[in-house]
Amino acid sequence: MSRKIVLITGATRGLGRAMADEFVRQGHTVLGCGRSEKAIEQLRRQVGPPHDFSVVDVASDEQVKAWATRLLASHGPPDLLLNNAAVINRNARLWEVPARDFSQVIDVNIKGIANVIRHFVPAMIKRQRGVIVNFSSGWGRSTDAEVAPYCATKWAVEGLTQAFAQELPSGLAAVSLNPGIINTDMLQSCFGGFAAAYPSPAEWARSAVPFLLDLGPRDNGKQLAAPGA
Ligand SMILES: NC(=O)c1ccc[n+]([C@@H]2O[C@H](COP(=O)([O-])OP(=O)(O)OC[C@H]3O[C@@H](n4cnc5c(N)ncnc54)[C@H](OP(=O)(O)O)[C@@H]3O)[C@@H](O)[C@H]2O)c1
Repeated sequence: MSRKIVLITGATRGLGRAMADEFVRQGHTVLGCGRSEKAIEQLRRQVGPPHDFSVVDVASDEQVKAWATRLLASHGPPDLLLNNAAVINRNARLWEVPARDFSQVIDVNIKGIANVIRHFVPAMIKRQRGVIVNFSSGWGRSTDAEVAPYCATKWAVEGLTQAFAQELPSGLAAVSLNPGIINTDMLQSCFGGFAAAYPSPAEWARSAVPFLLDLGPRDNGKQLAAPGA
């Protein structure tokens, strides 16, 4: 097995954290970020170098640029780039969602992905290999009431990924991924008590990580679903 460099946005909780743990367990190097200083500090204590965890808000182009400059110099381009970080609006009908909350969902879920692609992908193109996975959702391919801002961003992730895949040279791939339904903070926000009926992030990561490691240039442009989704 070759040791891969895996970049994960939103590695502090939920699916990102579970993937980080599983990639590390399997011998890969994980470069992760999140906004919570406390969670990043805890990750650093638990998982030292060559792994690297940083406080970065993906909605900030400046922060992502500084993060990428540092990591590309220390570790080189990632083999697998997982655009996992996202937020969901508090359940509300569209006309009840405050403008600030709407902007936050757009800034993180769409612009955050573009920021990460802007600053990491040129180095991956130069090296002529790598896979970019943009986390979508069942709600990137269907819709429900009270999550319109989130649905809008995940449908956008699908369109952005399709166009981006057409731009990539051979050797690279970009895919969108519906991870399925997993009991995380995000699911608890939109499903309430029903979230407990779904698998834990750790359980999900055990099948998702091998699936992600197996992706390659042949998958470019695919709209994928994680095993069991
Ligand atoms: N769970 C599900 O059932 C489900 C279903 C469909 C799709 N998804 C998708 O799967 C991905 C992971 O979801 P999840 O359920 O694990 O969500 P989660 O439990 O809410 O975790 C989200 C992660 O993203 C980070 N994050 C949020 N905003 C960020 C920002 N601006 N900059 C950097 N990091 C940020 C959070 O860390 P900080 O708070 O420390 O920043 C956290 O680590 C998302 O793209 C989500 O849309 C999940």
